[in-house]
Order: sequence, then structure tokens, then C-alpha cells
Amino acid sequence: MLIRLKNCHNVEELRLLAKQRLPGPIFHYIDGAADDELTYRRNTSAFDDCDLIPNVLAGVTDIDMSVEVMGQKLDMPIFCAPTALQRLFHPDGERAVARAAEKFGTLFGVSSLSTVSLAEIGEMIKTPKMFQFYFHKDRGLNDVLLERAKQANFDVLTLTVDTITGGNRERDLHTGFTSPPRLTLKSMFSFAAHPAWTLAYLMAPAFELVELKDHVSEGSNVSVSVGEYFSTMLDQSMNWKDAEDLCAKWDGQFCLKGIMSVADAKKAVDIGATSIMVSNHGGRQLDGSRSPFDQIAEITDAVGGKIDVILDGGIRRGTHVLKAIAAGATACSGGRMYLYALAGAGQPGVERALLNLRTEIERDMKLLGVTKMSQLSRDMLRYR
Ligand code: FNR
Ligand code: LAC
Repeated sequence: MLIRLKNCHNVEELRLLAKQRLPGPIFHYIDGAADDELTYRRNTSAFDDCDLIPNVLAGVTDIDMSVEVMGQKLDMPIFCAPTALQRLFHPDGERAVARAAEKFGTLFGVSSLSTVSLAEIGEMIKTPKMFQFYFHKDRGLNDVLLERAKQANFDVLTLTVDTITGGNRERDLHTGFTSPPRLTLKSMFSFAAHPAWTLAYLMAPAFELVELKDHVSEGSNVSVSVGEYFSTMLDQSMNWKDAEDLCAKWDGQFCLKGIMSVADAKKAVDIGATSIMVSNHGGRQLDGSRSPFDQIAEITDAVGGKIDVILDGGIRRGTHVLKAIAAGATACSGGRMYLYALAGAGQPGVERALLNLRTEIERDMKLLGVTKMSQLSRDMLRYR
């Protein structure tokens, strides 16, 4: 039976909409993760092992779900994490996500592997924007990316620190996924079986990684795997001094994405970072890594109040956001929660995904007996 956007009431149904529209290699690039995908599954199931204790008769007519995070006021406590290659999922790509994030007053994270320029996004929306920075061997490229983010008035610079080499994405090995897609005998059938996506892709302007195309062949229309990009382009010697220097060069809201240990969270404070994203890259890097929700209490006990702590990964429901914030997170972020929607239905899809989550968060706050985020606390949680 054909799935329609208006019947997608949650992330899982949006995932099935994406699966219906996307050729296999593209869907599995989004849906897949590393090795046995243990961490990917645990990122979400961790929330199931923690129960909420509601309070009643709290007078919950007026709900305020806004948060202050990374120096920005967001109208909802979850934002769009940076994800690569978005015009591969839908021709509107980052343009669609930018407009939807603006409409919902939340932050838009833009990847170094964006398919729309920082300048255009900076012109397009005036709501909070994050530029996610990959640290390349090519120092000249790093300086150009930093300058472009400043020129485009991005509010936050986020250095991703958990991709020092590519995670083992075995689904992509089986499908032969590359960016941009390479037509092989195997993938040809999948592209032919998804004519709406294939026609839109062929009719759209050439696919390229706009910020990288003038510096590296991988940024143009040379098909490479993401793993190759990580292992050939990124600087594996990157260390805390590099992060501290980048933080000083940016001289603004600076976030480290992919922090999982208390020791590293403390180092992030020491180098002057203003926020961390407790994240395992959606299970796409080190499989067997602990889930952000399992780890968030330990991190916020250590550095809460000294630095903003964002829980990134596994969020599929409004209750997941409330549990994360009750456990100590300042805010949450997610990738697949909006990417499936982008792939399935473009900007209307992303708006639907954010509306579903906002509606759930409001309802769940009322049922929990809270009217604002600051009323959430750990005594509303019971770990099984
Ligand atoms: C990502 N993620 C990611 N992170 C990053 O720092 N730079 C990037 O370019 C990308 N690209 C990317 C592509 C795709 C298809 C996915 C699914 C994820 C990771 C992303 O920012 C975030 O950490 C995870 O998506 C969080 O897990 P959930 O919310 O998808 O479960
Ligand atoms: C990924 C990279 C691009 O997870 O961050 O696919």
C-alpha cells in the first residue's frame, strides 16, 4: 500500500516513507550504521529502560518548551543535527531543511559536506545556524571553510571529533553506495525501481559538495565513498591543541560533537568550548560505543553548568527529548528524525517531522505535569 505523508505520525512511519521513495543505496546510507549496528539500536532503546514519573494537578495550560543553548534561543528543545549530502536525498536538500527549521524556530546544523553553500543558507534564514567543521589535512581548506562560515553569519562552529577514520558501514559495502551515486549493474535496478527519485535526481542541477568542490576532487562529481573521504581527506593527527586553536580562531560559540567520556568533556571546558554534543554519530562510527542517553548523566554530573551539554542520537519521540533533559541535557539534536522526512517529502516532510515532535513534546509535558524545561529533573526518572 502506498504510504502518504499525511499518514506519517511518527519517525518510524517517515522512515518507511523514505524507504518507499529512495533507491536502496541511498536509503541504506541514511538508515545504516557501523558493524552490527548495536549502538545504533541502543541509542533509541536506551530510552525504553527509563520510566517517567508524572506529577498531576500542575495547571499546564500554558506550555513553554523553549531552551537557551549555544547562545541561541530555540523555540523547541531539539534541533537538526548536521547531515551530509542532503540534495542526494531530495533535490531541495539543505534548502528544505533550512526553511523548515526556521519555521519551527529551531537551529539548523549544516555539514562540511553540504550540497548548498553556506552563503546561500546564511542569506536564506535568520534563525540559528551551526556550521559543522571537518578538520582536513589541507589547512588552507580549513581556513577557507572557517572564513565562509563567518561571512555567512553562522552562529555556532561545531568540530566533529568522532570521525578520525570512517566507520565500517557494511550496508554501503553491499550496495556500493558512493557520493554521488555510481550507476552499477546492481544499483541500476534499484534506481530504475524508484523513478520519482531517479528522475528528480537527473533533472536537478549537478550534485556537488559546494564547499569542497574547488579544493578536492571528492567535492565535485567524482564518486567516492564516505569512508574514503574520512580516511583520505581528514587529518588523523588532529589533537586537543588543534581544537583549541580552532576555538580561538572562531572566537564565538564553539561546540565539540562526538564527546562521550567525562575526561574529554572536562577537556572541552578547559579549551574554551561553549558546548559539547554527547554523540556517537548515530552509531555510524564506533559500534559498541555507549548510547548518549546511557552516558548523559555521568557527563552532566561532571560538567553541567560549565558548558552546554546536548544529547545527540537515537531521538524518535517527544518523551525521548524530555527524558534526556530531565537527565541533565541542555537540549537535544537528531539526524534521521528529519532526514527520513526530507527524503520522503522534502520541506513539507521536514515540517511534518518537526510538527509531530513538537506536538508530542507539548502533550508529554502536560501529561508529565511540567510547563517549562527547567521543571524537568532526574527525580522524574526511574531507571529499570
Ligand atoms: C550524519 N551525521 C553527520 N555528522 C556530522 O558531524 N557531519 C556529517 O556530515 C554527518 N552526516 C550524516 C549523514 C547521515 C545520513 C546521518 C544519518 C548522520 C551524524 C548526525 O549529525 C547525528 O550525529 C546522528 O544522525 C544522530 O543520530 P540519529 O538522530 O540519526 O539517531
Ligand atoms: C556520515 C558522515 C558524512 O555519517 O558524517 O555519513
